[in-house]
Amino acid sequence: MLSSPELTRRTGGRQIRAIVFDEPMIARRVAELGAQITAAYPDGELLLIGLLKGSFIFLADLVRRIERPLQVDFMVASSYGAGTASSGNVRLLYEPATDLEGKHIVLVEDIIDSGRTLARLTELLGGRRPRSLAICALLDKHLASEPPSGLRFVGFDAPSGFLVGYGLDYAEEFRHLPFIADLT
Ligand code: IMP
Ligand code: MG
Repeated sequence: MLSSPELTRRTGGRQIRAIVFDEPMIARRVAELGAQITAAYPDGELLLIGLLKGSFIFLADLVRRIERPLQVDFMVASSYGAGTASSGNVRLLYEPATDLEGKHIVLVEDIIDSGRTLARLTELLGGRRPRSLAICALLDKHLASEPPSGLRFVGFDAPSGFLVGYGLDYAEEFRHLPFIADLT
């Protein structure tokens, strides 16, 4: 378990096992992803759609590393069904008001676990006739039976534990940690 007075202040004393990706590692990788995205879209309109809430910090850092015109919007999806396992039933609580037709869309997600959320969302967005549709995920646990279609930009391979920080939560806690940590 990690412990320092600073960490204890931040977490209110809740325990964290280890830091998996620290701030400099994240900053370096996000800059690389920004450069990849810049190079991947030499022309056309680009719209990044952040999947809330988990992607809010990642998206904020990422767009500042993309050196071409772009627009930002968000999506809020809720998985419903009993239990903690992702059910694949996804309901949209908010979706982009802007027209997606003819635009390059990059859906920005915090972490891919089963991949079910993304599979459903790409299906929904694909129906709005974008010019292209890609996924950018900060973390991939590689647990999906097949990689989500359109997964084009990935930050890190994630260990199988439960990760928090840099936008990722456990029961809405820990999103504000500047690093990514293993809780389990
Ligand atoms: P999927 O539909 O099973 O791929 O679930 C992905 C969603 O589950 C992510 O957007 C996260 O909100 C959540 N999630 C999965 N694994 C973790 C984790 O290790 N930490 C925090 N949230 C996670
Ligand atoms: Mg979540």
